[in-house]
Amino acid sequence: MSENIISVKDLYHRYGDFTAVDGISFDVKEGEIFSFLGPNGAGKSTAINVLTTLLPLQEGSATVAGHNVAEDPQKVRESIGIVFQDVTLDRDMTCREILDFHGNLYRMPSTERRKRIDELLALVQLENKQDTRTKQLSGGMKRRLEIARGLMTRPRVLFLDEPTIGLDPQTRMRMWDYIKAVNEEGTTIFLTTHYMDEADHLSDRISIIDKGQIIITGSSYELKNTLGEDLIYLETSDMSGTIPILSGMELVKEVRKKSKGLTAMLDGDGTKILPRIIETLSAEGIKVSVVNLKKPSMDDVFVHYTGRELRDEGAEKSSSAITRAGRR
Ligand SMILES: Nc1ncnc2c1ncn2[C@@H]1O[C@H](COP(=O)(O)OP(=O)(O)O)[C@@H](O)[C@H]1O
Ligand SMILES: [Mg+2]
Repeated sequence: MSENIISVKDLYHRYGDFTAVDGISFDVKEGEIFSFLGPNGAGKSTAINVLTTLLPLQEGSATVAGHNVAEDPQKVRESIGIVFQDVTLDRDMTCREILDFHGNLYRMPSTERRKRIDELLALVQLENKQDTRTKQLSGGMKRRLEIARGLMTRPRVLFLDEPTIGLDPQTRMRMWDYIKAVNEEGTTIFLTTHYMDEADHLSDRISIIDKGQIIITGSSYELKNTLGEDLIYLETSDMSGTIPILSGMELVKEVRKKSKGLTAMLDGDGTKILPRIIETLSAEGIKVSVVNLKKPSMDDVFVHYTGRELRDEGAEKSSSAITRAGRR
């Protein structure tokens, strides 16, 4: 878990005048699950496409599995598997045919191909669908088949672009189990997602990416802990009076106004600080009507570092807006 299997330095990518990837640097360690978490349009697919050599490397440097992306694209391609954001399966081929065709493309001998196909169908639990045409598979099954295809050549790194986009919550959670199983087989995973919970549950480390830039990188635990130990939500009888009082208190790190109440990050144990806050407000004649204490979540991390709520943007809406603007 210590060697860097992906290393990226000062990577830029422009479409005409528009900078989609704006100088990112990061490393992925061998064996880990690493995520890019960011809203639609953040530059995730562009970055993954450069790393997988589908887009040319314009500026900066990147190595994948020890190969320079700009100088040795063929070597990079031989070391990786890719699952794209959109389904790319031939509708009229069966699961087994898809995998066999892919292995053949990479000149795998037929006995090895058969063995690997059996292993992979078992890994993604599609054994009883092996002779089913892909047009008859559910969305989750299609994704699992694409993951199996990405793994045919035993790549050292598997790239997954939004692996659970469009799947229902239950299917998404099962996909996470498959992705973990692949990782436990020894494959390093690089994935992109706009789902907070996905990044949170799956990743050893996460980079939050916004407007083509990496805002912060760390484990889910580290990201949440930089915010503070506990987070409180308050509604009071005098909101405009409450904010300066809280802001002035020791152990209160950051106060943020919400539509009705406010949130405050605490630099210590909330169960001890909260009674003091209520006392202090009470001494000023301010009554607390609603109070809630919790640990910072990935949503809180995102809001803290980008100043925006990912949920508010309406992932589906903005994604179709981007499509209309001619993304694909
Ligand atoms: N082929 C393209 N031509 C012009 N702009 C593009 C193209 N592909 C992507 N973009 C723009 O680059 C930005 C990043 O897109 P993308 O990498 O797809 O982001 P994400 O995968 O995070 O949603 C978006 O603003 C998108 O509209
Ligand atoms: Mg994308």
